[in-house]
Amino acid sequence: MIRPIIAANWKMHKTIPEAVSFAKQLKEEFPEPGNVDIVIAPPFTALSSVMEVLKDSPIHISAQNMHWGEKGACTGEISATMLVDAGCGFVIIGHSERRTLFGETGGMLNKKIHAALKSGLTPIFCMGETLEERESGATFRIIRKQIKEGLNNITSDDIRRVALAYEPIWAIGTGKTATPLQAQEAHRFIRETIATDLEYAHASETVIIYGGSVNPENTGSLMDQPDINGALVGGASLDFGPFADIIKISER
Ligand code: PGA
Repeated sequence: MIRPIIAANWKMHKTIPEAVSFAKQLKEEFPEPGNVDIVIAPPFTALSSVMEVLKDSPIHISAQNMHWGEKGACTGEISATMLVDAGCGFVIIGHSERRTLFGETGGMLNKKIHAALKSGLTPIFCMGETLEERESGATFRIIRKQIKEGLNNITSDDIRRVALAYEPIWAIGTGKTATPLQAQEAHRFIRETIATDLEYAHASETVIIYGGSVNPENTGSLMDQPDINGALVGGASLDFGPFADIIKISER
């Protein structure tokens, strides 16, 4: 039985007091572990303050990015060890905004995943196609390439600790969600690809979450799909009400 993940990706939003106040509300509303793992990804600046609030709660903290190095002359970067130190259990790797705005390549993401796993973090590894790629019929080819590059040389034992996120780029922040069937088809393909191409025997247990304009209205039909095991929520995670609703709908 897969335990779903509902993750909030706050991107470049929220000051420390805003993040702390949201975390307090979340802790109050969800004091005990439910049927889903709740993860929030605040900006770096708010990580340790949010950790102070959530340290005795079942809610997990994620970073939105990291560097693959342990330490050194890397101005502006943060290592996996630093994230663990700040209270993170998860890290988002390969979000399309990192790939497109900051030129992160499959090879870089692979190094990040190795480093995250070595430090005990659970990577949430994102993949997905552009609208152009979807319209030209290249969706599956692109996803397969992203999986092969990102998960290169990750052992079977380690893949157990990786969560995958399918985020079609055309659905991120646009209000256009993939239909539940489009998303299911991509999730199924991802599961099959890690089973066949990576020869991973436990693909049926891998958590594959969907991201791209998830909101309380579409959560139910997405979560009804057999290969969709949760959501990575951007815009609708910024306000407490809609995010709490998405969690409650997913717990049904
Ligand atoms: P969105 O973002 O929910 O605002 O589309 C999702 C994401 O980028 O992870």
